[in-house]
Amino acid sequence: GPKVMNIPIRPRRNRKTEVIRSLCRETLLSPADFIYPVFLHDAPTNDAIDSMPGCHRWSLEGLLTELDEIERLQIGAVVLFPAIDDALKTPRAEESYNPDGLVPRAIRAIKESHPDIMVITDVALDPYNSDGHDGIVSENGRIRNDKTIDVLCNQALSHAIAGADIVAPSDMMDGRVGMIRNALDTEGFKDVSILAYTAKYASAFYGPFRGALDSAPKSGDKKTYQMDYANIREAIREAHLDEDEGADILMVKPAGAYLDVIHRMRESTHLPIAAYQVSGEYLMIKSAAAAGWLDEEKIVLETLTSIKRAGADMILTYFAKAAARLLH
Ligand code: PBG
Repeated sequence: GPKVMNIPIRPRRNRKTEVIRSLCRETLLSPADFIYPVFLHDAPTNDAIDSMPGCHRWSLEGLLTELDEIERLQIGAVVLFPAIDDALKTPRAEESYNPDGLVPRAIRAIKESHPDIMVITDVALDPYNSDGHDGIVSENGRIRNDKTIDVLCNQALSHAIAGADIVAPSDMMDGRVGMIRNALDTEGFKDVSILAYTAKYASAFYGPFRGALDSAPKSGDKKTYQMDYANIREAIREAHLDEDEGADILMVKPAGAYLDVIHRMRESTHLPIAAYQVSGEYLMIKSAAAAGWLDEEKIVLETLTSIKRAGADMILTYFAKAAARLLH
């Protein structure tokens, strides 16, 4: 007969049934972990976004209907990304702090109709800037850090006045978290939080998003402000700065190719960490699934669980609705 082997330690015993696997599971995904990024535009129609199948540029009304579904799925937070008419884009991005601009109007409408949904706004100039950069571009083509921060503070304030719960600077200018915190506090918005895009890499994974908002840089790239994807110590340096400047939550972006950064940041700070599964990550899964090459539902849950396992407390993902449905 078969030889009796001496293998007293058998990890497979903890995998023998779904019940024991559930008991031993270390990372649990929940709809409460998700932040849903939504695109909106100043038009009466809901337009499908070619570069991001399954996503839409919502009208204000369409967005409110979409939020009914978000609430039913128990997703608690959204982040707003506006597509701005070309005619409103200027070198100084004045539209970014127009109190009656698309984002402040959307915030007021959401707070009126869905007061319990947490509204997060993107603070950066690229949708408003005729140069397509997150900052103000000077005549010699350089990004003007401190001048940009003035505008970002105005933008963050206009969002706070309209009722935003959290502002999320995604621009990567130096010192902007502290200056925005100061601007908010000076105007009495001490309860408005800052979710800092702390380690935002110069990434080709943002391509489909820039298509969605028509916000790609008109010249050059974003490498003088977004981080070099070869670096991780630099991410921790940024984390310490943002923490010292008063950030409430730190973000790593993109997520899937940067799990080591999420993990290292988790070990370097006690602040909550957000990770952004960005448009290119979404599109890779969508296109492989559309071709019949991958099982979309399984891949979605696996990638999101991995991001959480790496150390993220919350995840921005275009799959928020789909994943919440699967989890329910
Ligand atoms: C703009 C911004 C970008 C994204 C979020 N905010 C694009 C960029 O920095 O070029 C990308 C999100 C995504 O790809 O899903 N400040």
